Amino acid sequence: MDRRKQVYVHTIGCQMNVYDSGRIARMATSMNYQQTQTMEEADLIIVNTCSVREKACQKAFSFMGRMAGLKRKRPEILLGVAGCMAQQEGEKLLGRPDGIDFVLGPGAIDRLPDILEKVLTQQVPAADLFMPENMPFPESEGEGADPLIPQKNRVSGFVTIMRGCDNFCSYCIVPHVRGRESSRRPEKIVGEIKRLVESGAREITLLGQNVNSYGKKDGSPSFAEMLWQVNEIKGLERIRFTTSHPKDISSQLIDCFRDMDKLCHHIHLPVQSGSNAVLKKMNRKYTRERYLETIARLKDACPDIAVTSDMIVGFPGETDEDFGDTLLLLEQVQFDGLFAFSYSDRPGTPAAGFPPEIKISEEIKKARLKRLLDAQEVYTTRKNRALVGSCQPVLTEGFSKKQASNNDCADIQWTGRTSSNKIVNFTRCHTHKTGDSHGTPQGIQPGQTVRVTIKKALSHSLWGEEMAESAGAGNQPARNEEKHAD
Ligand code: SAH
Ligand code: SF4
Ligand code: F3S
Repeated sequence: MDRRKQVYVHTIGCQMNVYDSGRIARMATSMNYQQTQTMEEADLIIVNTCSVREKACQKAFSFMGRMAGLKRKRPEILLGVAGCMAQQEGEKLLGRPDGIDFVLGPGAIDRLPDILEKVLTQQVPAADLFMPENMPFPESEGEGADPLIPQKNRVSGFVTIMRGCDNFCSYCIVPHVRGRESSRRPEKIVGEIKRLVESGAREITLLGQNVNSYGKKDGSPSFAEMLWQVNEIKGLERIRFTTSHPKDISSQLIDCFRDMDKLCHHIHLPVQSGSNAVLKKMNRKYTRERYLETIARLKDACPDIAVTSDMIVGFPGETDEDFGDTLLLLEQVQFDGLFAFSYSDRPGTPAAGFPPEIKISEEIKKARLKRLLDAQEVYTTRKNRALVGSCQPVLTEGFSKKQASNNDCADIQWTGRTSSNKIVNFTRCHTHKTGDSHGTPQGIQPGQTVRVTIKKALSHSLWGEEMAESAGAGNQPARNEEKHAD
């Protein structure tokens, strides 16, 4: 009997790409391919690429080199490049020596069967860079037994609610390669979440490049109204979302952090710079003052909210003074975590066309990035240390990779997250290991929320011990009972 053909999909980039890779894999399955985790066995290899920064493109080219190596050994295999870098580079990718058979932009993913047929019948490489005005969500998307995003565990699921972006920040490639914003129907979102909950999910992260503008163009409910619909889903315990644009945060959304029992106490709110001059050139449409006011309103509504952010250093024209404003903003907000990036010219964006004399040297960018990350390290550690001694409800995701070595009561560690999205590795105390108040020892199941006393703060995670009576822990974090300042 003939062996079924195998497909291997490799994903680079954000959750949008993870979602699209799910769609690619599903389409390939319907064309009678079987998914494989072993690239060497595959008959069809597709790399789903990102072009947000130069580094992401380098990753894609290096993966294409590996694909080419396999094709040299087995010339019959098919190679495809999909996603954002495919859209950006287009047909140029077919002219390279990697032996790429097809290029598929994010707007053309649904046309995978057509391009495959074209390549097979005509025996010539092909590119499809179709970009619809709005990226519609096909009616059937997210239906069926398997979630579109391969979930990293059963407990915590990801659901896409929007596509594209209309913001055109001057440095960013996303609107150019992903097209205009469109929102998915709320009943489709609720339907997909219910199916995930039925298969064991307790936490859902809603995804989009700019979730705060959900529904604005389509006459759908607002983002806050949609969140309330999700909050009603029985069996779901936690809701998260990403990414938010500061200019679109509504009062109703801020109220959700105060009033909605399932909404986690964390927001990722990329600020990009602390300098008004730079923010203006970035086309971000808010000032540092307005950003700080938004943070104050969020903290007012939800005093223990954790705030994380993205920052770009070395944007064209950024002076020492501008960078000083960024450091000052860091001190004023004291983020729980920060993703910091060195500015990278993206072809075709307005910032890439700024005069060469205002571009910042790699050396200065590197030095600023280091200063920023060093400054943030202090705040991250301080925020984590402040939790030592507190009791936190932790949603268990599974076993921790590392076994405990620094305590005498544990040989098994579980791992999970606080409502504020901090990773906690934790153990059971002796009374639980030997007693039976929770059934068998080692009986914590993924999906269970347990109360954990935080014993130690490491740089990017916490370590703790399950409290003696943790059954029935609710979702929201307990206030710090013995708060330790550092
Ligand atoms: N939609 C999200 C995230 C977009 S990409 C948002 O609006 O925040 C993720 C992050 O990559 C951005 O927040 C930004 O900090 C960074 N980024 C985007 N373009 C970049 C560029 N050209 N150079 C360096 N960093 C960039
Ligand atoms: Fe890029 Fe700005 Fe859109 Fe985010 S909001 S994806 S940074 S253009
Ligand atoms: Fe990258 Fe495209 Fe996402 S550029 S960050 S994969 S939308």
